[in-house]
Amino acid sequence: MTLRVAVIGSGPAGIYTAEALVKQSAGQVEVDVIERLPTPYGLVRYGVAPDHTSIKSIANYLRRVLELPEVRFLGGLTLGTEVTVGDLLTAYDAVVYATGAMVDRKLGIPGEDLPGSVAATDFVNWYCGHPDVDSSRFVLDSPEVAVIGVGNVAVDVVRILAKTADELSPTDVPHDVLERLEESQVKAIHMVGRRGPEHAKFTLKELRELGELTNADVCVRPDEAVVPGDDFPRQIRGNIDVLRSWAAREPAGRPRRLDVRFWMRPVEILGSERVEGLRLERTRLSPEGRVVGTGEFETLPVGMVLRSVGYQSVPLPGVPFSEETMTVPHEAGRVRDREYVSGWLKRGPTGVIGTNKSDAAETVRTLLSDLAGRDPARTTDIDTLLAERGVRPVTYEQWLAIEAAEGELARSLGRGERVKLAGLEAMLRAYHPGE
Ligand SMILES: Cc1cc2nc3c(=O)[nH]c(=O)nc-3n(C[C@H](O)[C@H](O)[C@H](O)COP(=O)(O)OP(=O)(O)OC[C@H]3O[C@@H](n4cnc5c(N)ncnc54)[C@H](O)[C@@H]3O)c2cc1C
Ligand SMILES: NC(=O)c1ccc[n+]([C@@H]2O[C@H](COP(=O)([O-])OP(=O)(O)OC[C@H]3O[C@@H](n4cnc5c(N)ncnc54)[C@H](OP(=O)(O)O)[C@@H]3O)[C@@H](O)[C@H]2O)c1
Repeated sequence: MTLRVAVIGSGPAGIYTAEALVKQSAGQVEVDVIERLPTPYGLVRYGVAPDHTSIKSIANYLRRVLELPEVRFLGGLTLGTEVTVGDLLTAYDAVVYATGAMVDRKLGIPGEDLPGSVAATDFVNWYCGHPDVDSSRFVLDSPEVAVIGVGNVAVDVVRILAKTADELSPTDVPHDVLERLEESQVKAIHMVGRRGPEHAKFTLKELRELGELTNADVCVRPDEAVVPGDDFPRQIRGNIDVLRSWAAREPAGRPRRLDVRFWMRPVEILGSERVEGLRLERTRLSPEGRVVGTGEFETLPVGMVLRSVGYQSVPLPGVPFSEETMTVPHEAGRVRDREYVSGWLKRGPTGVIGTNKSDAAETVRTLLSDLAGRDPARTTDIDTLLAERGVRPVTYEQWLAIEAAEGELARSLGRGERVKLAGLEAMLRAYHPGE
């Protein structure tokens, strides 16, 4: 029999799952990729930094999966709003949840709710033109900004803050956002790690790019670049060497300055009406390896604090969720009978795009082996169900119309290949011209 499977989420995990379903079942499957936005590709579109064009081109691979005859894209449908788990289990033989990790983690320190204290998730969504964040959301009017965390997302955020609007003009950054970046008053960016260079999560290639910025000097304090011994894996050794070389560099007088700090943890965001400073405490590791304060404090005169301390998943209505791991509990991808999980929702918010491919393959192996030889479980079909409710999903062709409008906009502005349409209304106009 031909299996009918719903995959919820059209990020890398969802699309690699659709591809694995087609390949592993030798085409004996129909897959609907259901996405809450009118646009596919998840964080490839709304996370990967706009100036990382070669990584963004993974979308060309994902596109070919959506264009397979066995696969259909249904946009503008949110699990929990337009469709429920109950609906899906009547309309499909199996469901795979791949909704990623869209919210930020908190620091849990005083002052975190002040205006100017911002989650990297919001900031990334802003410069990537995610419809959840208004393009007028940020005004970069503070000369000093702190970015908490030393992972690859922090590196992205720092790079976007450090680059000039001219450098970002050929990218797909929404035009309103580019104008805000052009007016940026930022002169100093402090990237703050609570442990040492040997513990930083950024990868060597991404770190090196910071040293190549034409608009910013990168500074590291020699005492903070010291690490015990030499016995580290190659990637970490590489990071340490780069950081040490920066510690030995003289600033070249570029317009912006990036201070990469280690062994400092944020303890309070200061200010009454908005962020006016960030209090840091020097740290060390306890004998058990925990980060502890030394009682030595320092205040940075920043007007904006961006926390980039990791993403996390949110529970889906009607789907099991562990508040401990903030993921959906599973066994090799199986959640319950006919329900599966894949990607960041399954593993937590770590790993690069490619990691989701092998992860999706595991989930699909489990699914196909569970359902082998079973009679179809579906009793209705999703098109009938949605039509009865007057819900019209965004089709793949309508998404292509959005894409075409983005190309058109770029040409009219004399900018790169595409410029993102900011906001759902602009997207709606693109696929319903005249409305
Ligand atoms: C800022 C940032 C930059 C990154 N840059 C890189 C990079 O340069 N290179 C790299 O290799 N990796 C990068 N990564 C990691 C990579 O993006 C992830 O590994 C990958 O996107 C995870 O895939 P996913 O499909 O699980 O989640 P996502 O990509 O988040 O996809 C989840 C999808 O589900 C949809 N969805 C959510 N809730 C619902 C719902 N209720 N109903 C329907 N749909 C829903 C979302 O809209 C989204 O489209 C980056 C990550 C971040 C956060
Ligand atoms: N170009 C790329 O390939 C690219 C780009 C972006 C993202 N990604 C991937 O996407 C995934 C997510 O990246 P990410 O940067 O969000 O997460 P991450 O790699 O987990 O980094 C999170 C950072 O936040 C710090 N942190 C956590 N809690 C903190 C706290 N309370 N106070 C201070 N610091 C705190 C962590 O320090 P500790 O280590 O001390 O906890 C770490 O430095 C990663 O796998 C990443 O590689 C890849």
